[in-house]
Amino acid sequence: MDKKVTVIGAGNVGATAAQRLCEKELCDVVLIDIVEGVPQGKALDLTEAAPIEKHDSHLTGSNGYEASADSDIVIITAGIPRKPGMSRDDLISTNAGIMKSVVEQVAKHSPDAVLIIVSNPLDAMCHVAYEASGFPKNRVIGMAGVLDSARFRAFIAMELDVSVENTHAFVLGGHGDTMVPLPRYSTVAGIPITELMPPDRIDALVDRTANGGAEIVGLLKTGSAFYAPASAAVEMAESILKDKKKVLPCAVYLEGEYGFNELFIGVPVKLGTGGVEQIIEINLTDDEQAALAKSAAAVQELKDILKSL
Ligand code: APR
Repeated sequence: MDKKVTVIGAGNVGATAAQRLCEKELCDVVLIDIVEGVPQGKALDLTEAAPIEKHDSHLTGSNGYEASADSDIVIITAGIPRKPGMSRDDLISTNAGIMKSVVEQVAKHSPDAVLIIVSNPLDAMCHVAYEASGFPKNRVIGMAGVLDSARFRAFIAMELDVSVENTHAFVLGGHGDTMVPLPRYSTVAGIPITELMPPDRIDALVDRTANGGAEIVGLLKTGSAFYAPASAAVEMAESILKDKKKVLPCAVYLEGEYGFNELFIGVPVKLGTGGVEQIIEINLTDDEQAALAKSAAAVQELKDILKSL
């Protein structure tokens, strides 16, 4: 393949992302993990599935970064996931250390890559990656909004018994309890859901979306969601690799947009070859803007915790 994507962290999210990338035949894939044998074993296993899945993506597993050299995209999932009772924020000090060491290596070997950050707490990890890489802001992008919007879309489709393909949804803000699902901009075949269901049902779906990650953690008990997070990261990667210019909600570094400064917040952006090609500013009602401000304050709090580590 003429494109190369490295996935750091060959655990649940990373290995699933690698599988989706190669089965969609988007690129060659390098899987890196700190645990010896795991990335090599998973890469080989996926390679042995290739004749059946009918793709010619090459997979490599490694504990070092040489194999990742000159990647177009690096998806970073390294870190520890949540256990029941933990919030994403409880992971901050462990995952900040992991993120910093990983990104320093990544930046050295792939200075022109676009980074897609997946590890939690997402917004804080984006700040760590941005600083540790020294990359321009358009090449450090957090995966949160695509996942949260997919959850909202799945719940809308279940509620109305319609095809998920007909649904669109926007969830903005930080990737935490303060995330901001926007029912006004969430549609079924172009029809706002505010026309299709009563306010109390919308509130219930919004609430389920905001707690979507915790719902899965509560069921799995030994880890957190990974199928949908991997799908979301791969949708972002595909838009960049194919220069599709999809408009997707992603955590990006804001400098004045939506009234926020020097903060990674989830907003709609256009993703193409260069990473973030445009930040799209949509009109928000006073209530929506206030909810976004509350979410931004939560991200700022995490940023402050990072400084004290
Ligand atoms: N370098 C490379 N890999 C690392 C490092 C490191 N310094 N530290 C940990 N890892 C690897 C682990 O060995 C493990 O294989 O990261 C992988 C994480 O995989 P899982 O434990 O299965 O976690 P996963 O469910 O994939 O979640 C990863 O994504 O969604 C977020 O909150 C989640 O922060 C978590 C991350």
